[in-house]
Amino acid sequence: MKAIKIGILGLGTVGSGVVKLLQDNAHKITNITGCELKVKTAVVRNVNAHRNVDLTGIELTNDFTKLLNDDEIEIVVEVMGTVDTAREYIKRLLQAKKHVVTANKDLIALHGPELSELAKENKCDLFYEASVAGGIPILRTIVNSFAADQVESVLGIVNGTTNFILTQMTQNGLSYAAALKLAQEKGFAEADPTNDVTGKDAAYKMIILTQFAFGKDITLDEVKLAGIDGIQLEDIKEAAQLGYTLKLLGIAKLINGKLAVSVGPVLVNNSRPLAAIQNENNAVLVTGKAVGETMFYGPGAGELPTANSVLSDIIAVTKDIVLQTTGSRFNDYSQKIEFAKAND
Ligand code: HSE
Repeated sequence: MKAIKIGILGLGTVGSGVVKLLQDNAHKITNITGCELKVKTAVVRNVNAHRNVDLTGIELTNDFTKLLNDDEIEIVVEVMGTVDTAREYIKRLLQAKKHVVTANKDLIALHGPELSELAKENKCDLFYEASVAGGIPILRTIVNSFAADQVESVLGIVNGTTNFILTQMTQNGLSYAAALKLAQEKGFAEADPTNDVTGKDAAYKMIILTQFAFGKDITLDEVKLAGIDGIQLEDIKEAAQLGYTLKLLGIAKLINGKLAVSVGPVLVNNSRPLAAIQNENNAVLVTGKAVGETMFYGPGAGELPTANSVLSDIIAVTKDIVLQTTGSRFNDYSQKIEFAKAND
């Protein structure tokens, strides 16, 4: 049986979750892929830190080149966060012909096209299902299940922190500051929550969703952006009296053939399913010309949900390795051609 060795950059919440899920489901994964998948090396800042996961058989090092120069390692999972270092590392890994799976939405939103191109040149896979909506398998769903349809819009709640804050303000009457503090304590918020509350985190996710739904690479300044940092408890109470719930929505939509992408607070009628999405959960509505409106709901963050999305990518890479089909762009089946036509 073919053994596939995996390297991990970062053993924080998601990295530990990946190790756990691989251990717990090893038998099933082997049945599906015909390969034995093992984490060989983890690059971490502090090799002596206590970690709540069984690391037997995994070498911990703070030397990235050890992983880079290990010819046995075929797949590398990047879950260390940061943009510049992760970009540099992923470039070197792809140049060394290693396949990469990342959960790093900031990196993919800012440098995805460049890295995808590099992956293609090197006939490597670069997958990032976990970068959008945590545990919801939304990217591969758009690629596979909307391949024969034309997406007209993709919209929804793609930031758990802001949805948690708004839910707590709406249901428990918490002030904005108290609700944000609670979100930070629960670990949903980014290390610096500015990107969450200003809508930037959701905008990064909409950039990636736009690539998949419409085959178009857009930049942050093309997203009309507003956050929830100015929202008062009074605004929420007034909305509730009128039968509406305030939500931070990301929206990417074709309007007369032109693509409009925005993130901002929206009053959602309580009769609509998005109004019922609570706390850190995410929900994405994809509307196709043929299929109509579909909705995908689930946890937008967290150790095991996000790790599960990473594992789905690792399995996809493994299948590509076995079938010798690595190197096509993750969203190659998207609607590039349709979009180009619509904008003629
Ligand atoms: N801070 C992000 C959120 C984490 O709240 O959605 C998952 O991307």
